[in-house]
Amino acid sequence: MCPGPNDIADRVLRAMIRPATAPGSPEFQEVFEQVHERLAQVFQTSNQVITVPGSGRTGLESAILSVLEPGDPTLTITAGYFGSMAIRIITNAGGKADEISFPWGEPLDLERIEEKIAQGGYKLVTMVHNETSSGALYQEAGAVARMAHQHGALFLLDAISSLGGAPLPTDEWEVDLCVSCSHKAMASPIGHGYVAVSDRAWSVMEQRKEPCRSTFFNLLNWKAQPSEEAVGGRTHRRPQVVFSSVHVYYALHEALQMILEEGVEQRWNRHRINAQAFREGIQALGLKPLAKPEIASPTVTCIPLPEGIRPADFLQKLRAEHGIYTTRGLGPYRENAIRIGHMGVTAIPRCILHTLYAMESVLASFGYPVSPGAAVSRAGQVYAEAQQHQPEIGAVP
Ligand SMILES: Cc1ncc(COP(=O)(O)O)c(C=O)c1O
Repeated sequence: MCPGPNDIADRVLRAMIRPATAPGSPEFQEVFEQVHERLAQVFQTSNQVITVPGSGRTGLESAILSVLEPGDPTLTITAGYFGSMAIRIITNAGGKADEISFPWGEPLDLERIEEKIAQGGYKLVTMVHNETSSGALYQEAGAVARMAHQHGALFLLDAISSLGGAPLPTDEWEVDLCVSCSHKAMASPIGHGYVAVSDRAWSVMEQRKEPCRSTFFNLLNWKAQPSEEAVGGRTHRRPQVVFSSVHVYYALHEALQMILEEGVEQRWNRHRINAQAFREGIQALGLKPLAKPEIASPTVTCIPLPEGIRPADFLQKLRAEHGIYTTRGLGPYRENAIRIGHMGVTAIPRCILHTLYAMESVLASFGYPVSPGAAVSRAGQVYAEAQQHQPEIGAVP
């Protein structure tokens, strides 16, 4: 139940059991193409999606390095640990990083953000869609994108822990650089960062005063180009700047097939209802998720533990006695909170109910007063209510 890397379906693991295939072979190129087409459907975009080897951070770094030149002013909206990641990359790249920050788990103040953007003359505005450190989802990203555009800035959204688990209409929100990765709600092995790139962002890259100094991180080098040599009936060629991790792409191809079979919107709903069942179960234990209910994430919950229970001890018991692996809080919550990922294949009643029971049992073993069965029972009620409207919600995808 870790908030990434998360579990991988057997079907996806099995897709990797195959002989080595050359990255340039027509057989692999067809899979490579389909992966990018399917990713665009999950991103809800007609923009080109680029997959760069690595993880979310390589996606983030390539998006930033491709558009940023030394001295460029940027604004990052932070409300948790991962917002600051963009600031480190911007600063290393010689950009000027300005920040507007909000308390962890609290809603954003759009008026303050608008004022700041209006004053700054920024080239790039960045924010995190789903703050994996606090368990908060910020659906105002579309409004922030509009503000950025009104003031001549590009908008980068870190959707690393939301893609495939939370509504993310990339085109409707006009996100210029929408960044994600393979191993969170996409339920695929670690291996790739993704960036969906708008025409606006491509033209900023094309009109740089100085070229991007990196070969690997320069998204222009990955951009599909028109080609006379059509592959599989397609009229473009998609460069592989480095050798593609062929087996990981086969896994991703299968994970995407599962997502599209389930349906992207159905998948968002599944995450939403399972997250709600989990949060209500947690509250029945007397605990309170860090994020305010109105912005609670469908893919991850951060839970401050009762005084006197150390996350390291709690997590050790959860793993040893119940077979559940997850991780502690970050930043100011490192020594007093844990985080549970309910994403991809773990956003199902079997995992949620097991985790609630296990947490209740571990809490009791530390002498914390629990009402036996209350958490599982409350979550069961949430499922029962949801099933009245959506009978398929309990089904394992
Ligand atoms: C919101 C967010 N941004 C960035 C990252 C960094 O991504 P990765 O660890 O895949 O490089 C993470 C990882 O947890 C994340 O949750």
